[in-house]
Amino acid sequence: MNKKAGILGTGSYLPKKIIDNFHFEKLMDTSDEWIKTRTGISERRVVDENETTSYLSTKAALEAMKCANLNPQEVDLIIVATATPDMIFPSTACLVQENIGAINAAAFDISVACSGFIYAMTIAKQFVENNTYKNILVIGAETLSKVLDYEDRTTAILFGDGAGAVVIGEVNEGGILSTHLGSDGKGKDFLSIPAGGSKLPASKETVENKLHTIQMSGNDVYKFAVRIMGEASLKALELANLDANSIDYLIPHQANIRIIEASAKRLKLSMDKVYVNLDKYGNMSAASVPVALDEAFKQGKINKGDNIVLVGFGGGLTWGASVINWSIQGGKYE
Ligand code: COA
Repeated sequence: MNKKAGILGTGSYLPKKIIDNFHFEKLMDTSDEWIKTRTGISERRVVDENETTSYLSTKAALEAMKCANLNPQEVDLIIVATATPDMIFPSTACLVQENIGAINAAAFDISVACSGFIYAMTIAKQFVENNTYKNILVIGAETLSKVLDYEDRTTAILFGDGAGAVVIGEVNEGGILSTHLGSDGKGKDFLSIPAGGSKLPASKETVENKLHTIQMSGNDVYKFAVRIMGEASLKALELANLDANSIDYLIPHQANIRIIEASAKRLKLSMDKVYVNLDKYGNMSAASVPVALDEAFKQGKINKGDNIVLVGFGGGLTWGASVINWSIQGGKYE
């Protein structure tokens, strides 16, 4: 019989420090009112000086392992999806491997910006189903506050820090029914951190021109996102031989409430079937989907047997969607 991969446990970690919209009124020409109505964001979490992406990842990973009842020695592979690794190398996944004592695990990062978690989950699914690995930690984690230009009102207000994690392994019932991934490099300039790589190595000029911070063409990303979130979800449903009526719960990437509402409309879903936490956390890139998933599960919004759709989009451009028939019972708030 073929193996089926699913989620065995979830976890998340948010830094304690909260920055509300009023903070930005002091820094730039913006307002709480503008940010709330145009994005849906009220506040976001931000790391302190000593907290890194590997630190947030480790906390989220330990919680997911506890939820899955997994020892560090039983972890076979760690994948971290992040656009803000601690360093270019070694990978953040290797730092997590050391932190949690996963002495038997291989480890690597993937760079897919905000779609990273769904890509990483897709990789993990293959390894479980082809019998290579038994237990895989998939983490989406970001410290975007470290790569923001706090004088740019078009980007600084949007992003936050956090980490979410899941353990992927074999399930007897349900599991990851489908995944659909895509990319379009023509949109590479819509969302990027241009410097620090081989094209523009760090120099006095790159620092002076703020090329180590997020650059974005908001309108282009917005139009792409509204189209692709619905399209990708429908494609993943089709691959699972399901239609939009079968969705019990939607976990979308948390970029803008207007993008989320447009996606729900396209799928003919009422907003009570859609998880939203961007009011509290903003856009946490690769961490948005796994943090939302962990919260939804632990608040009892998704239960064993439910069909849930995860969908995300981001820099690259990239996108990904997945249909999961939820296999585990109960969360920590049960
Ligand atoms: N406060 C006040 N005014 C702001 C502002 C801010 N923080 N940011 C932009 N503005 C201004 C603009 O300068 C513009 O002024 P102008 O008309 O004088 O030129 C005006 O508001 C409207 O800008 P616009 O870009 O058309 O606003 P919008 O309704 O499209 O909202 C975004 C802007 C960025 C919120 C929206 O485009 C968006 O969410 N895009 C997707 C971004 C995203 O998801 N990125 C991450 C992907 S993973």
